[in-house]
Amino acid sequence: MARVLSGIQPTGDIHLGNYLGAVRNWVEDQHLQDSYFCVVDLHAITIPRDPAELRAKTLELTLLLVAAGLDPDVCTLFVQGHVHEHSELSWILECVASMGELERMTQFKEKAKDGRESARVALFTYPVLQAADILLYDAERVPVGEDQRQHLELCRDIALRFNHRYGDTFLVPEAILPKVGARIMDLQKPTAKMSKSADSPQGTVLVLDEPAVIERKFKRAVTDTGTEVAFDPGKKPGVSNLLAILAAATGRQPAEVAEGYSQYGQLKADTADAVVELLRPVRERYTELASDPEAVRATLRQGAEKAQAVAGPTLARARAAIGLLSRD
Ligand code: TRP
Repeated sequence: MARVLSGIQPTGDIHLGNYLGAVRNWVEDQHLQDSYFCVVDLHAITIPRDPAELRAKTLELTLLLVAAGLDPDVCTLFVQGHVHEHSELSWILECVASMGELERMTQFKEKAKDGRESARVALFTYPVLQAADILLYDAERVPVGEDQRQHLELCRDIALRFNHRYGDTFLVPEAILPKVGARIMDLQKPTAKMSKSADSPQGTVLVLDEPAVIERKFKRAVTDTGTEVAFDPGKKPGVSNLLAILAAATGRQPAEVAEGYSQYGQLKADTADAVVELLRPVRERYTELASDPEAVRATLRQGAEKAQAVAGPTLARARAAIGLLSRD
């Protein structure tokens, strides 16, 4: 079985785009591959956060992932900050990565909006910690969104350079990009990806939204001029997004779904219904799990132990390779 690892930040609420584009695939993958899923709290603090909120969000995200179907007995689900090897390997890799290659990361440029002066140093080295997340587990495949492609390239470069300088230590991973069609756009601004940022609460369907809220958001979804229902993301972004969502929710192709409709109104109503039914079991399970958060915390302790059993030996290998004297 190939080993797969992915990470998700415990910031913002999980929305339909995350669910259809990532989480649902992970749930399927866990049975086919040796899967590691990491809630990356150390990455979250590269931007200032409210401490109590970060703690709450970390637990909430874990509950949600379990509610969505990640089975801690099948995959390894853990919190990054529970496995100290991540920060330690990250330091070692910082001694291999160069300023120049990190300077080229577009995500840093986007996120350091308020300027380089006030940006946290860790925001700059963020991709190195991500490389550590991946390399610690000898992950062969890393399912990520298009926006993470550059970070994956960097991870490969660092692994190759380390291996070249210090001897074979890391497995060089490959990025797995999501299947096309899973790109879900904002309901109010269908030319932008549905996102966690709170800029467009009406355009973002949250996995835990009540059915009435989901229905309202779809009812108010922006459509396009004209009346024809056709899948054409360039010319008809709003309608195409609804078609993509309905298709993804019902396991069909958007163009095929379009054939059944002649009116926007019916398409909106049916899409809302399909999404409500898709998310209903997740929300119900979440409510159950949330009544006993201790059980999920126990699961996380178990996950951290499983993760550490793999990460520990990899870190030891890297320490030895680069010449750190062992304590024993
Ligand atoms: N940087 C990723 C994101 O923002 C999250 C992440 C952290 C990650 N570590 C990872 C993804 C390791 C894949 C593998 O989406």
